[in-house]
Amino acid sequence: MIYKFYRQRIFPHLLNQVMQTASLMDKRRELLLPVAGEVLEIGFGTGLNLPFYQQVDTLYALEPNPDIYRLAAQRVHEAPFEVQHIQASAEKLPFASASLDHIVSTWTLCSIASLEQALAEICRVLKPGGALHLVEHVLHSDSRKIQYLQQALTPVQKRIADGCHLNRNIERALKGAGLELAECRYFDAEGIPKIAQRMLLARAVRP
Ligand SMILES: C[S@@+](CC[C@H](N)C(=O)[O-])C[C@H]1O[C@@H](n2cnc3c(N)ncnc32)[C@H](O)[C@@H]1O
Repeated sequence: MIYKFYRQRIFPHLLNQVMQTASLMDKRRELLLPVAGEVLEIGFGTGLNLPFYQQVDTLYALEPNPDIYRLAAQRVHEAPFEVQHIQASAEKLPFASASLDHIVSTWTLCSIASLEQALAEICRVLKPGGALHLVEHVLHSDSRKIQYLQQALTPVQKRIADGCHLNRNIERALKGAGLELAECRYFDAEGIPKIAQRMLLARAVRP
């Protein structure tokens, strides 16, 4: 009962605040600049990417959680292009095969229950040469201590942060899905606790 109240009424507001950390907003700008035309964003959240799309005609805003999507209403209303909400999961994308040039994921791959299945779906839906543009927090590659904490605390994190895994090796998962990394850069985001600070910004292309 209390947990349900937390997930439906408190967590969406916490998410909306944390995801507006200045260093994350800067990375949204950088990631989304070349994204154009008809675009699918998975795990749309509260719509924080909307102001950074410069060349988009239609955005398919895939967000399974209505309590989170509700907080995007004002941003969706103000968007200078069409935004279509799609209430579905990335593991089963309601799109035809080879139908899209651009898919976007910002801090969503950590939360998807079956990452492997979602990446298979993304590969199916992308046209050959199409790209998944992503920025995600990842398993730390250098510090054994941080890696250990990420592994140990992931079960708790999943409970308090709506399924978020701290311990995912996203680069390995992308390559395992058959995507090719046209761009792949790691950085530590300012203002984020060390345990979730290591980030990957990448553009993963369907061959
Ligand atoms: C950490 S939030 C990031 C939100 C947003 N992308 C942003 O950058 O602010 C993760 C988002 O992924 C969504 N999500 C969780 N499981 C999902 C799934 N299976 N398919 C698509 N989205 C999912 C959550 O509802 C949430 O909106």
